[in-house]
Amino acid sequence: MSRTIVVTGGATGIGRAVAERFVAGGDEVVITGRRPDVLEKAAADLGVRAMVCDGTDPVQVQRLADELPAQFDVLVNNAGGNTDFSEPEAGDLAQLRANWLANLEANLLTAVLTTTALAPKIADGGSVIHLGSIAAMKGRGSYGASKAALATYNLDVATELGPRGITSNVVAPGFTAETEFFQGQLSDTRRATLIQETLTKRAGTPADIAETIWYLASPGARYLTGQTLHVNGGALTTR
Ligand SMILES: NC(=O)c1ccc[n+]([C@@H]2O[C@H](COP(=O)([O-])OP(=O)(O)OC[C@H]3O[C@@H](n4cnc5c(N)ncnc54)[C@H](OP(=O)(O)O)[C@@H]3O)[C@@H](O)[C@H]2O)c1
Repeated sequence: MSRTIVVTGGATGIGRAVAERFVAGGDEVVITGRRPDVLEKAAADLGVRAMVCDGTDPVQVQRLADELPAQFDVLVNNAGGNTDFSEPEAGDLAQLRANWLANLEANLLTAVLTTTALAPKIADGGSVIHLGSIAAMKGRGSYGASKAALATYNLDVATELGPRGITSNVVAPGFTAETEFFQGQLSDTRRATLIQETLTKRAGTPADIAETIWYLASPGARYLTGQTLHVNGGALTTR
């Protein structure tokens, strides 16, 4: 039976691959994003519905919630990214504060606002999946801290929605190529280092991440909740 999936930030990179994976599985997909032109083009390419929504804006998130169908099955909180590749000048606390707030807003609050507004429409037995990051385990300043906070927030979502049979998990990618994440700022040296850190000696692809998300939303994963799944080629291992 066809399901309906909402993928925030679904026009590019990982979100786009997630949309593509669910379409391939016969599901209906709604993608969101802030840039109407990029969103419309992706929607036309993929055969999905586009809804412009800045996930940091409560008004736009509420409008998204109102305009979605009465019920849908899977929410993928993918919108986000590192808003702060710069180093603030020493002593500039105001700039430091702004940089930290920007990452918390982009990565934590997008998920909090979207999940809160959309949860009443998620069908019993559905799934929520948040895009975390390997950075949550490695420091990496405000970006890593925002993804660590997202993983903690996931526990609240899993607790609250669990009685309805809705699972909530974090998928935490390592270095994933073919996205807009690095905004052209990834040097060849850094790229080589990130690949060297994996056990598989290659960059992750959006499709690698999409397959894990697909599984988490599948009938076989209904007892898997409140977890963070690391998908990073072994760049970070667990036990
Ligand atoms: N690539 C990696 O190596 C990597 C590693 C770990 C985790 N991640 C995480 O994976 C997720 C997807 O990133 P990506 O790598 O696929 O990069 P990406 O290509 O930059 O995708 C991010 C998408 O999110 C959208 N977006 C950003 N802020 C938004 C907002 N406030 N409201 C709505 N949409 C928003 C962007 O579109 P608009 O700009 O048009 O809004 C874009 O389509 C992010 O949460 C990122 O932190 C990525």
